[in-house]
Amino acid sequence: MPDKAEITIGDSVTQWPIDEATIGNHGIDISTLRADTGFVTLDYGFGNTASCESAITYIDGEAGALRYRGYGIEDLARNASFLEVAYLLINGELPTSDQLTKYRNEITMHTLLNEEMKRLFDAFPRAAHPMGILSAATSAMSTFYENYHNPSDPEQVSESSIRLIAKLPTVASFAYKKSIGQPYIYPRNDLDYSSNFLHMMFALPTHEYEVDPVVARALDALLILHADHGQNCSTATVRMAGSSEANMFASVSSGMNALWGPLHGGANQAVIEMLANIKEDGGDYQKYVAEAKDKNDPFRLMGFGHRVYKNFDPRANVLKDFAKDVLEAMGRQDELLDIAAGLEQVALEDDYFIERKLFPNVDFYSGIIFRALGFPVRMFTVLFAIGRLPGWIAQWKEMTEDPRTRIGRPRQVYVGAVDRNFVPLADR
Ligand code: CMC
Repeated sequence: MPDKAEITIGDSVTQWPIDEATIGNHGIDISTLRADTGFVTLDYGFGNTASCESAITYIDGEAGALRYRGYGIEDLARNASFLEVAYLLINGELPTSDQLTKYRNEITMHTLLNEEMKRLFDAFPRAAHPMGILSAATSAMSTFYENYHNPSDPEQVSESSIRLIAKLPTVASFAYKKSIGQPYIYPRNDLDYSSNFLHMMFALPTHEYEVDPVVARALDALLILHADHGQNCSTATVRMAGSSEANMFASVSSGMNALWGPLHGGANQAVIEMLANIKEDGGDYQKYVAEAKDKNDPFRLMGFGHRVYKNFDPRANVLKDFAKDVLEAMGRQDELLDIAAGLEQVALEDDYFIERKLFPNVDFYSGIIFRALGFPVRMFTVLFAIGRLPGWIAQWKEMTEDPRTRIGRPRQVYVGAVDRNFVPLADR
């Protein structure tokens, strides 16, 4: 491994230290490039730019590997609970049995929302998208916990983290109940994390809802598969907002808005809508593949492609098998699963997709499972957000604890007018 990199600009050669990774891409530390040379780097979409050192999640895009704190996600999804994984991501180690019991109890004791928050849900239009409500309510939480805003106080950080993880399923289910005009269902402390969420989503005051353990376990595993993914768009947003020392609630709310877009977490809703369109249109996958390849057509195959994965998305692999198992266990069939499998087959054999290394991503199969578990399509991105929350918190915390953190403030290459004199309105 070389210990320095050289950059030649005209006749001037400068040397830059290498920041060594334990595994994966090493970094060239150009922190003083502008000060030393007067140049900045330009990297649209940050495809080559590391914004930090991180010890949380490792992704090998070529091999299709994803590990949280060194543990493979397949292993975690099979053997751990979501709260165990949340603890691992945020604290760096798997909890002991006592630590997990304490953590679960802390989360369980904070699942209720302040009653005044209910007025917030009432204020939204009936047809409001639950992602809009989720981010607004998460931001609103910061006003209820103003004593926990200091990112340098570990006690306050821990209290914010517990409250966010405890309350997000309550917020999510209230947003859903609001959208269908049903009464809000309060959390139940005798249920585990995923069972409690399912209960708040689907119970009615008039009708008890028995949580199916198969459904609860499937949901828990799905949340684990979404729990972190390095410096993706929403996590980078959480870090960017947090770099100004914005509190954890406000920073996480910013990340939720970034997640909502159809190129990121919003893709899980977009995939199901696309599969339903294909079905309604007679099931001709070829037509949609042709549209996705046409440069004059903005249509993309939703659920295909990834900035980092150039072989396969390991989450999609787990989910594909999982989708079949869940449908089987629940005695259900979903025509959209057949359409998805057919579309995948056609796309994977097509040169356009092969050359660009476009494979199904996590969102391609997650929606089919969310549907089978009974969730409405507009809640899919909300489920992604509940899963991603421990990752956002872990990354926010790692950033605030790193003494090298500075406020995020990219430079630009200015290409506008240079110096103009103001022209009075009458003369324009
Ligand atoms: N359908 C058709 N063509 C595609 C697709 C697609 N889904 N994705 C990428 N391409 C083409 C793209 O047009 C470009 O072609 P060319 O080189 O001829 O110009 C090439 O593949 C590279 O694409 P890119 O847009 O430069 O790649 P990116 O790394 O900037 O974008 C992506 C990654 C995920 C935003 C993109 O693949 C995409 O829009 N996919 C569909 C949306 C989606 O499924 N998003 C979920 C991502 S995974 C979960 C998450 O992060 O939340």
